[in-house]
Formats: sequence, structure tokens, C-alpha cells
Amino acid sequence: MASPVRLSLDRLMNRIGALGRIGAFTDPVTGDTGVCRLALTGADRMARDQLVAWMRALGLTVSIDAIGNIVGLRAGRGPAGETAPVMLGSHIDSVATGGRYDGALGVLAGLEVVEALNESNVTTRRPIAVAAFTNEEGSRFAPDMMGSLVFVGGLPLGDALATVGIDGTTVGDDLARIGYAGSADTAPLMPSAFLELHVEQGPVLDHEGVTLGAVTGVQGISWTEFTIDGVANHAGTTPMALRHDAGHAAAAIACEVRRLVTALGPPQVGTVGTIRLHPGLVNVVAGQATLTVDLRNTDNDRLREAETLLHSFVDDLAAQEGVRIASRRLARFDPVAFDETLVSRVEALARDHGHAVRRLSSGAGHDAQMLAPVCPTAMIFVPSRDGISHNPAEHTDPAPIGAGAQVLLDLTLELANTTPETTP
Ligand code: HGY
Ligand code: MN
Ligand code: MN
Repeated sequence: MASPVRLSLDRLMNRIGALGRIGAFTDPVTGDTGVCRLALTGADRMARDQLVAWMRALGLTVSIDAIGNIVGLRAGRGPAGETAPVMLGSHIDSVATGGRYDGALGVLAGLEVVEALNESNVTTRRPIAVAAFTNEEGSRFAPDMMGSLVFVGGLPLGDALATVGIDGTTVGDDLARIGYAGSADTAPLMPSAFLELHVEQGPVLDHEGVTLGAVTGVQGISWTEFTIDGVANHAGTTPMALRHDAGHAAAAIACEVRRLVTALGPPQVGTVGTIRLHPGLVNVVAGQATLTVDLRNTDNDRLREAETLLHSFVDDLAAQEGVRIASRRLARFDPVAFDETLVSRVEALARDHGHAVRRLSSGAGHDAQMLAPVCPTAMIFVPSRDGISHNPAEHTDPAPIGAGAQVLLDLTLELANTTPETTP
């Protein structure tokens, strides 16, 4: 006999803590403890092994696909025509200086939904799937959201496996090395709907004291790598007029990104997160420089305008400095809007439980951005303390996590038990 489905916040927090101990590191300066689980490293493998063990202990059928996506499937009772699962998920890889909630929350909240259903002997009409997508962060191997992009057919598998990362290895080799080069057929796992619980990673909910976010969509993302070839020379003897200084050119691009973004105004953002100089010595004019530029905007036309203006600046700079500048696109995703019916349900369910909720767009990319074009998709945000993320200080209190997991459970039950007559 099915009984009311009850989540266990303690169990969820314990799993977040346990996964957070895999790849844990303590920032030597701040003393904050976060995680370093870069995609396809040993720490990622250990976290994957732990997740698979939890999935199997919950009776899920675990499949690993060719890009290493992990999907745990809980059978439904529904008619043959309703086998597409309601999928809950996110990622368990992190940036090198990450927090324990980014990504992990969405995967582990999905596990908690499954365990609560198991405890209540509830079988849903549709199957329920819990997914951990490979390489959401894109820090080692661009683009980000790689696993979910391949899952929805947005990136050919061969191209993804051949991707060379910042360490010089390929995705395919590293997947095989950690033992997650799977072969599962993903067609039966294509979801009827996708839900992702995630920390906001920005300041809005925390600043306003709002418990939950009904996410309306995700802004567009543009990642470009610039490689600058100048002439290495002596820092003391080379007259300024004769220099072809790759270091100066890189710095000029970084300053232009800030100027350009400021001129375009919010919500345009721009980041130069990596600059590498060669030979990188105090008394040598840099012969080569490599830098990355991350541009984002909720408006695709404005994002294109920012890209065009930047490339025009780079062309002029190359001529002016007598250097060669090559660009390589690392990632480009259009803004997406989530399913209005689901966004409204997130809002209504939050209010039903008495939680303050507001709509907002996501500044961060997410796997949900890849799933949105193929099925009704929604995200639920919980606050990030001081808006901090991609930082070991990342923190979210248990209470909003419990509130977000409850809305995830409620909406999962609605979607997994809808009939063709009652589809929202
Ligand atoms: O870059 C992003 O927004 C995501 O964290 N991959
Ligand atoms: Mn994330
Ligand atoms: Mn992230």
C-alpha cells in the first residue's frame, strides 16, 4: 500500500557531504574546503563509482553511454506507450576550485526522490531516471555541457571523444582510462521531461532573502581561445617600437573585454579566465600568449554584437602590434527558455509549501540548457550564500535545499503520473 512520500533531508545532506569528500581540497589561503573533481580525472572516477554504487543500492538499472553519461533508471508501471522517463539530473564533475553543491545537488536530490519513492512503495506511471552528465564544466575539455550535448545529439560522439584537453589528452582516452567509456543505447532514456535542481551561483536569491528560484531560462554562452604569436626578445635591449609583444597583446584583449562589456551594459558579461605567456619569464618579451574569453548575454543578438566587436578589435590589434592572432571557438550556446508550464508549476509548488519564490534567468550554463530543445525542461534554484560559486566557499543552507528537493519531488510525481488526459 503506497504511503505519503517523504524526503529525508538528513540523508540528502549526508550524501552531499560524502560526495564532497571525494576530491575535497582546502584552500590554503581562506581555509574553505571545496572540491576539485575535474572531468575524467581520478577524483571524477571515484565520484562516479560512488554514484553508481548508490544507484545500484536503490535498485536502479544503471547505464553508461559512450560519452560516459551515467543514468540510473527506476521502472514505471505505465502502458507501453509511456516509457520515456522523467529525468532528474545534473553533473558531478567540478571546476578545479569548486564547491560541493554545484551539480552534485541536482544528481543527489534525484537519488533522494528515488529513495523516498522506494520507502513509500510508490511506483509511478512513467519511469524515473537520474542522470549525471559527463564534463558539464568544460574546464579541461571544451565545450562545457559536453555529455548532455552529445546525449541530445548536439555534438557528434566522435568529435567529443577526439577533443584534446588543456593537459593534451583526449576525452576518449581519459574516458577509457577511468573505465567509463560505455556503450549503452541512449534512445530508451530520452526523457519526457527534464528537471534540474541547482544552486543559483549568483547573488539574487540570497540578496533578496528568497528561498527558491523558478528559472526561466539560461543565457547564451560564447567561449573563444586566442593564440597570439609575436617575437620573443630581450626585455632590456629591445626598443618599444620594435617589439611584437604577445604579452602586451593578450593584456590589451583582456582590457578590451572589460571596456566592451561595460559599454554594452548589463546583462552582458565578459571574462578572461586564462592567460598563458611563453616563455613566461621576467626578462623576456613574450613570444606567444594564449587566452580565453567567456562572453554571455540573455539576448543572442547582443551576444553576437559583442563577439563581432571583439574580433574586430583583435584584427586591428594584430596589425598594430605586428603579431599573428588566431582564434578558436571553444563553445557557443544560444540562450534557451524553459517550458512555461513547468516554470509555473515550480512557482506554484513552492508557494503551496509556503516558500518565497521568484523567477530569474540563469547566468551559469547547465545541462538543462542542452535538454531544453528536446523535452519540456525546468530548473529549481536554491540560494548561494553571498552569491559565491566556482569557489570552495560555495554554501547553501540545508533548509532551502530541503525546500528545493520537495518541489523537485512534487513536480516529478506530477510529471511521472500524468496520463495523456491529464498532461499539464
Ligand atoms: O560555465 C558554466 O556556466 C557552467 O558552470 N559550466
Ligand atoms: Mn553546475
Ligand atoms: Mn559549475
